[in-house]
Amino acid sequence: MIRRNARIRLTEADRDMMRAAGRFNAELLDVVRPSVKPGVTTEQLDKIVHDYTLDHGHIPACLGYAGDAGAFPKSCCVSVNDVICHGIPGPYELKPGDIANVDLTTIVDGWHGDQSETFLIGESSDISQEAREVTQCAFDCLYLAIEAITPGCRISVIGETIVDYVQRNYGFGIVDKYVGHGIGTKFHQRPNIPHVPSAQSHRDRLHPGMCFTIEPMINGGTARSLVDQRDGWTVRTRDGRLSAQFEHTILMTEDGPEILTTTQDGPQSGFQF
Ligand code: MF3
Ligand code: CO
Ligand code: CO
Repeated sequence: MIRRNARIRLTEADRDMMRAAGRFNAELLDVVRPSVKPGVTTEQLDKIVHDYTLDHGHIPACLGYAGDAGAFPKSCCVSVNDVICHGIPGPYELKPGDIANVDLTTIVDGWHGDQSETFLIGESSDISQEAREVTQCAFDCLYLAIEAITPGCRISVIGETIVDYVQRNYGFGIVDKYVGHGIGTKFHQRPNIPHVPSAQSHRDRLHPGMCFTIEPMINGGTARSLVDQRDGWTVRTRDGRLSAQFEHTILMTEDGPEILTTTQDGPQSGFQF
């Protein structure tokens, strides 16, 4: 009998393919990083992502990715302020005080790396307290969840850790409509990785050889969201409050989680915004 999820347990060779994909994706985020500043348009960031990816012989997974609303038109997502996720790069110019999530996914030799960071735009004095707090909260949620998971643990450990931390320290909204996901030769695959516990996540486990993302989205107010009716992609907070997100691609090994998308230049575990 084939056990559930058996087909997504990676061999050692497959794990190395995922490591290479994660490494390239993280390098790409470091390439974009210096440009994420006031005055840049989000489509200029997209062009950097697109060109660097193609120049290295890889594929931007977002470009043409099929959703309910048709194909995603750009090579990455940039989600500013009240945009929770799936922001489409365009003519908007980042300005001091904005928070902007840059979410990159690359296909390297058939395997996917997926990660995001939220950037505080401008000088420290430009940033509102709420902007700093939602960003810190989302960042802490990601690393606390990674620290909490162990080989064979229930996926619900992630949601339990995040809910406990957010309720104790902030009372922010934790988005439950959009979730982390299994990842490998497909961009999105089973299992779902919800950031609040769900019935299914109490049953599913993180076995060695599984690759998945953790990508908590934290809102200053309500967790509820609305999809833009015109473009069919952009997801905003219903109340217009800010939203922040961080994401890593993770391999569960026999010894514990291995983060595959660690950057050279980005914030590391324990970072204070
Ligand atoms: N990168 C997002 C994720 O973390 C998905 C973006 S899909 C797109 O799963 F089509 F909007 F690009
Ligand atoms: Co993802
Ligand atoms: Co992503």
